[in-house]
Amino acid sequence: MAGLERCDLKLSGGEVIDGTGAARMRADVAIVDDRIAAIGDLSSVRAGREIDVTGRIVAPGFVDVHTHDDRALLSKPTMDMKVSQGVTSVVVGNCGISLAPLVMDRRPPPPLDLLGTEEWWKYGTFDAFLTAIDEAPASVNAAFLVGHSTLRVGAMDDVYRAARSDEIKTMRGRLEESLDAGACGLSTGLFYAPSEQAPTEEVIEIARALKTHGGRYVTHMRNEGADVVKSLEETFLIGREAGVPVIVSHHKVHGKDNFGRSKETLALFDRYRKSQKIGLDVYPYHASSTVLKADSIAFSNRVMVTWSVPHPEHKGRDLKDIAEEWGVDVYAAAERLQPAGAIYFSMDEDDVQRILSYPQAMFGSDGLPHDEFPHPRLWGTFPRILGHYSRDLGLFPLEEAVRRMTSLSAEEFGLKDRGEVAEGKFADLCVFDARDIIDSATFEDPMTPAAGIDTVIVNGRIVWAEGRCTGERSGRALRQGQA
Ligand code: ZN
Ligand code: CU
Repeated sequence: MAGLERCDLKLSGGEVIDGTGAARMRADVAIVDDRIAAIGDLSSVRAGREIDVTGRIVAPGFVDVHTHDDRALLSKPTMDMKVSQGVTSVVVGNCGISLAPLVMDRRPPPPLDLLGTEEWWKYGTFDAFLTAIDEAPASVNAAFLVGHSTLRVGAMDDVYRAARSDEIKTMRGRLEESLDAGACGLSTGLFYAPSEQAPTEEVIEIARALKTHGGRYVTHMRNEGADVVKSLEETFLIGREAGVPVIVSHHKVHGKDNFGRSKETLALFDRYRKSQKIGLDVYPYHASSTVLKADSIAFSNRVMVTWSVPHPEHKGRDLKDIAEEWGVDVYAAAERLQPAGAIYFSMDEDDVQRILSYPQAMFGSDGLPHDEFPHPRLWGTFPRILGHYSRDLGLFPLEEAVRRMTSLSAEEFGLKDRGEVAEGKFADLCVFDARDIIDSATFEDPMTPAAGIDTVIVNGRIVWAEGRCTGERSGRALRQGQA
């Protein structure tokens, strides 16, 4: 902005990585209100507050495209686990489970219970949920998906079958209403019991509502093991039939027999991307996490319990050890621990690195914020990509890592004026030290904040500084199509 005399906040002396993939450059950044007002040599601009960021990187705040933070936005509004990583926006409602639109008077079926017990299921419309967030904002921005499993639980008396046409109509109507309120797409979790009986055709019929709203179809696919290729083909078919972009969630191949098959799956992405819009996200770990399930135990080398309602004392322990103590097999032990959650060591590191390296892959944590002993991805994902995979292993340059957690993500999820350090964009920023940045959360000690994140700014306000949350809650509910 030519002739800017005064700004509210100035970051001086840093190296700007703008999020587009362009090489870093030395520049000051000036913020007025909630936007970036100028970038360059701003030594003559007066500032309400100036922060010297010499030797640091100034990047767009990171977008965590795969989260289950629907309820955390309300119950943990400072969002420590996210802002401590430099995350300034999250996409919630993934894997078929969203907190709205659904009212429950009892514990919802797994995996919906990952979001909360019955007292949290009180938003009968999407608008009511978004209004609740407007009234009690969090420290990060959020964009919202509508979960197919949530719609099914709300529209069907029995979810363990295919939906009838009247139920499909109800679900499509609720999706439309949610999109009107500002949701950015539909997610499915066809892998999970409340939706696995849904035939492809049911999903297509519901997803048809997305096209006129510019929404996207996001999926935790039916199968990520032996049938991963079949599931990718189903996903791409749904996108073509509904005429909308698709995003494959936390892409992986699991189970020993399938190690190495990411070569095959990524080739399939390449092939279909020529004729339709396809995206994907990935997290930087070779273990997954969700509710405790027999089929997931079957394909894993090791299973760790993250929470258990009847046996909270066993969180953080190996299922095998618990089973031995009880003198039963792992499946019987899992039965006794229910309802419960777990971490599954089931992937090949080479596959993880191959998918992380894929130029279209966005990054998402898939962190589970209400687990008592969570997978370390909840606190470590973004610094682990920047420090471990980019800097230490050299999988890709820092600029490319930043692009795939900022501008690419904002574009694929329709986050307007975010994901880039440029004049006129929202002032969502992360200042970090490229030499020190690293995840600290481990499978043994999973809730440790990462190192190297200096200052995090959301809509022009500082939410993280000097190693802690400032308490500022400047995040917004991002309604699709609205600024
Ligand atoms: Zn999932
Ligand atoms: Cu997920």
